[in-house]
Amino acid sequence: MALEKHKEQDYGENPTQVRQTDKYKEEYVHSFVDKWDDLIDWDGRAKSEGSFFIDELKRRGKKKILDVATGTGFHSVRLLNEGFEVISADGSPEMLAKAFANGRRHGHVLRTVQADWRWLNRDVHGKYDAVICLGNSFTHLFEERDRRKALAEFYACLRHDGILILDQRNYDMILDEGFKSKHTYYYCGDNVEAKPEFVDEGLARFQYKFSDGGTFHLNMFPLRQAYTERLMKEVGFQQVHKFADFKETYRQEDPDFIVFIAEKRYPDTPGAKEEA
Ligand SMILES: C[S@@+](CC[C@H](N)C(=O)[O-])C[C@H]1O[C@@H](n2cnc3c(N)ncnc32)[C@H](O)[C@@H]1O
Repeated sequence: MALEKHKEQDYGENPTQVRQTDKYKEEYVHSFVDKWDDLIDWDGRAKSEGSFFIDELKRRGKKKILDVATGTGFHSVRLLNEGFEVISADGSPEMLAKAFANGRRHGHVLRTVQADWRWLNRDVHGKYDAVICLGNSFTHLFEERDRRKALAEFYACLRHDGILILDQRNYDMILDEGFKSKHTYYYCGDNVEAKPEFVDEGLARFQYKFSDGGTFHLNMFPLRQAYTERLMKEVGFQQVHKFADFKETYRQEDPDFIVFIAEKRYPDTPGAKEEA
């Protein structure tokens, strides 16, 4: 697929009415993807999330990982550095190209697959110990049937005792109390300001403003935590553990990010308790 280097984001005349799952590929235009690493600042991000995901995967004995929202490759590279076997998928060719280049810089040849979550099993084969969908990615799906389909596809990629690790912004807080990000987790780059420009129950439109003047947007669906958890259980995940800003228990007040670890296995099967 040819990459379009000069394409710009285009939300038409009424940006807050753009609420479509398929929009994500057009949103990640080359110039935005190029800046994405300034936005997420790999070193700062690694410091703030620490070894949370690595520890959770290792503790549960997971080795073969499918990163379904590779983006520019941050988690794929971190997991490869730690000796995991990783397949790096994403629906955006721009993102995958950047991820591959980032992988090379870190001494890896990423095994990339361009795949949309809604038909993931068409393009990604084999069974995985864990699927990771991180960096507030699931929020790109606007239709409930797309969310159900994507979760069902993630479920189908997993071995019988596999887990899904998925995170999202704390949209409950944004919807109910307004935005007050401590700016500590994920979006740590000093050169960028990320804030919601418009929020209602069907849209969170974020603006990303870079210090060199570049401004980009993402239109996302504000997922309430209870809703995401319910969908996970409805597609078949048996247990869903919740974490707030990478803390082990759900004690944090007003966290910026929520991490879900959904288990396919019944809680009373041998070994399940030790892992949970
Ligand atoms: C917010 S970025 C996060 C990237 C990366 N995980 C990170 O944390 O930096 C969301 C990613 O999800 C991908 N994505 C969104 N919707 C998708 C879909 N339906 N199928 C496949 N990938 C999708 C986008 O292309 C993008 O790379």
